[in-house]
Amino acid sequence: MEILHVSAECYPMAKAGGLGDVAGALPKYQQKLGHVAKVVMPMYRTKFLYANTWEVVHKAAFSMGNRQIDFTVIKETSNKLGFDLYCVDIYGLLDREKIYGYDDDTERFTAFQISVLEWLAKWEHKPDVVHVHDHHTALIPFMMQNCFAYRNISKIPTVLTVHNAQYQGWMNWEKATYIPAWDTWKWGLLDWSNVINPLACGIKCADRVTTVSPGYMQELMLEANGLESLFTQEAAKCSGIINGIDYEVWNPLTDTYILDNFSEKDVEEGKQLNKKKLCDDFDFDLALPLFVFIGRLVNEKAADLLPEAIAKAYEQSETKFSFLILGSGEPEVEQALGALQQRWVGYYHSQIEYNEKLSHQMYAGADFLLMPSRVEPCGLNQLYAMRYGTVPVVRSIGGLKDTVIDFEDEGGYGIRFNRASVEDIVYSVRRAISLYPEKKKLRRLRKTMMGLSTSWEQSAAKYIDLYKATSLV
Ligand code: GLC
Repeated sequence: MEILHVSAECYPMAKAGGLGDVAGALPKYQQKLGHVAKVVMPMYRTKFLYANTWEVVHKAAFSMGNRQIDFTVIKETSNKLGFDLYCVDIYGLLDREKIYGYDDDTERFTAFQISVLEWLAKWEHKPDVVHVHDHHTALIPFMMQNCFAYRNISKIPTVLTVHNAQYQGWMNWEKATYIPAWDTWKWGLLDWSNVINPLACGIKCADRVTTVSPGYMQELMLEANGLESLFTQEAAKCSGIINGIDYEVWNPLTDTYILDNFSEKDVEEGKQLNKKKLCDDFDFDLALPLFVFIGRLVNEKAADLLPEAIAKAYEQSETKFSFLILGSGEPEVEQALGALQQRWVGYYHSQIEYNEKLSHQMYAGADFLLMPSRVEPCGLNQLYAMRYGTVPVVRSIGGLKDTVIDFEDEGGYGIRFNRASVEDIVYSVRRAISLYPEKKKLRRLRKTMMGLSTSWEQSAAKYIDLYKATSLV
């Protein structure tokens, strides 16, 4: 079957978080299963754009409100990602350096979605299913079904995957004029609490709705930033499919970012050499347990709890430890994390940036990865860590709960705690510290984790089954 993914991010063209990883890997694995998967995304000014060659496949124009939008669809020519990658170029609107965070993001992503549909309606070739991801692309099912110009694609089944229900793309009703002429009787599909809510609209209109873990779908029925009753109402078409990881990118045996490649067989030596590099780079003591946190420094990830939790853990534990943070986000959190550096020289470092290479080195060299998230739809970092033999220390929520078993439970390998609180984090860090000297046990946990199968293979197949069910609708 042929699948067209529509996404705001796709690694390595552009990535802000896990959505980029998913959109870069899922289509590749669907291709491997013998299907044709393609991705269309906005054309940002990224390194990948300039480093590759592109051909123009479509050029047209439409009006959005009172402005005329000219757009071009380009395609990467070498099939570098293992699938066809298309980008929509809209001069002055999409072609910027960052993915999100502009005042006119509503206009940018609405124009992107309309461009995709204008192209799709003209394309002689049609996919069997259109798979959209998060609110930036969630108006697509509604527009396909209700805009007069898109009648010839109105029967193509649609799937919406919710990677994060906190952000919903709210737009006020004045902006309804952006949407190409539509059947206004259907306004109720766009509306949620008196505003246009693209994510809610996608949940109402898509043939199937998925989240990136079964646990997160259950949680959304109870708390979904205002959409819980909608998820409950639409429960019959909702399900959770756990994300996989790209084993070609995340493989300690072939990873070119890390210093020493290793496998399950020589995990102890391999990790030790990688840890040594990190300890040399950041001036840490190699003998101490090394904790890392990698991710956006935002509330959802409970990054605001880290400064106090880390300070308390240092004060309360007899055995010291090293802690390395990588990420950027809320300025106050960045600052509070930076301030710890003066107090815990030689034990602590926060690296405030996004750095793909360093993140690989950290998964490879760390002993423990901390993820105290308040909300975690799937979480990929714990999966990357486990693949590199690093013990995840996670809060029991969403996808973390679905993928990590506590080492004291049967078949377990990680450390789990219940609340996103300073106390729970400190307690879990201390559990990790007491596990650290138990070398035999640790070796066993590492081997168990590295033997888990978390590749996209199974989940990519689950999506195919879901599409097949959709086309019967
Ligand atoms: C979002 C979620 C994260 C998930 C990712 C990919 O970034 O916050 O939990 O793993 O999407 O689906």
